[in-house]
Amino acid sequence: MKYRRLGHTDLEISVVALGTWVFGGDCWGEVDDEISVSVVHKAIDSGINMIDTAPIYGSGRSESVIGRAIKGKRQNVVIATKCGLKGAGASIKVDLSAGFIRKDIEASLKRLDVETIDLYQCHWPDEKTPFEETFGELQKLIKEGKIRYIGVSNFDKDLLTKALGIAPVVSDQMQYSLFDRSIEKDLMPACSEKNVSVLAYGPLGGGILSGKYKKPPQIPKTSVKSFFYKFYREPFWSKGKELVAVLEEIAAARGKAVSECAINWVLSHSEVASCIVGCRTPEQVRMNAPDADWELSPEELGRIQEKYENIFGS
Ligand SMILES: NC(=O)c1ccc[n+]([C@@H]2O[C@H](COP(=O)([O-])OP(=O)(O)OC[C@H]3O[C@@H](n4cnc5c(N)ncnc54)[C@H](OP(=O)(O)O)[C@@H]3O)[C@@H](O)[C@H]2O)c1
Repeated sequence: MKYRRLGHTDLEISVVALGTWVFGGDCWGEVDDEISVSVVHKAIDSGINMIDTAPIYGSGRSESVIGRAIKGKRQNVVIATKCGLKGAGASIKVDLSAGFIRKDIEASLKRLDVETIDLYQCHWPDEKTPFEETFGELQKLIKEGKIRYIGVSNFDKDLLTKALGIAPVVSDQMQYSLFDRSIEKDLMPACSEKNVSVLAYGPLGGGILSGKYKKPPQIPKTSVKSFFYKFYREPFWSKGKELVAVLEEIAAARGKAVSECAINWVLSHSEVASCIVGCRTPEQVRMNAPDADWELSPEELGRIQEKYENIFGS
């Protein structure tokens, strides 16, 4: 495993982080908490030191499972959780008011059973709450020792710049994969200039970039694969499959998994400090964790880029 510095902090985080939305059991189909605990243990054993979660994942279930799993292992992990989403299902609302952040942090600390959260991220921007209120409250949490560093998520360049005017934000967690490259134009250069790390979520496009699907799977409407990742539907599906085909060729030639190639492509961008990969089973951790030990060559990156431009334009 390789490690990269998180923004201007003293934290060295693994280039592959464990994503735990799936542990919530609400949006990814049923999960078994015992298996989720073993996923965390496998991740730590594989050198993954960063675990990303959120109160909204299964209304606290993901955080509670992590709290159980890291007992006696706290010193081995960088815990990243989030604040500011409430409700469930279709009625989720954003709330980054000071009052709601307070409630959220106290509940997260209890569920995770820790005294301090290493990285505390605003999950989505809140247009209604003044930035001064949100980031002022987060700075109070640092002073109180409840959090170490402030991060944001789903903040575009302008919102990130505004937040940085008030507080020392160290990271922006954004969707980034071969299927969604929208952050490359504005956000990535801004992050590079301001020494803010990109934490890339959805690096497997919700699973498709693992290459495991030969045809679109049947997906229930309640699944994240229906409502969050558009890649499972036409017109995206057919284009996405063409791109996966290039990864399959490279993976076969290298004796690697397709998912490894997809993750390594994300990591070929130095603005990305860590690639947050969702893992349902210890086997998925095994497949995704060794990715850091090799890199796609310039020729392979060139082939992927050429295909990308043929399919999606430059
Ligand atoms: N900040 C935000 O707004 C936000 C939004 C989304 C995600 N996130 C974070 O980012 C994390 C990662 O994103 P994600 O989980 O949504 O998407 P992802 O990493 O692109 O896809 C993860 C899913 O792909 C499948 N998978 C993983 N490894 C595999 C392998 N080696 N072979 C085959 N299938 C594999 C698993 O689902 P199946 O077994 O069901 O196929 C897994 O749950 C989340 O867990 C969460 O922590 C944050």
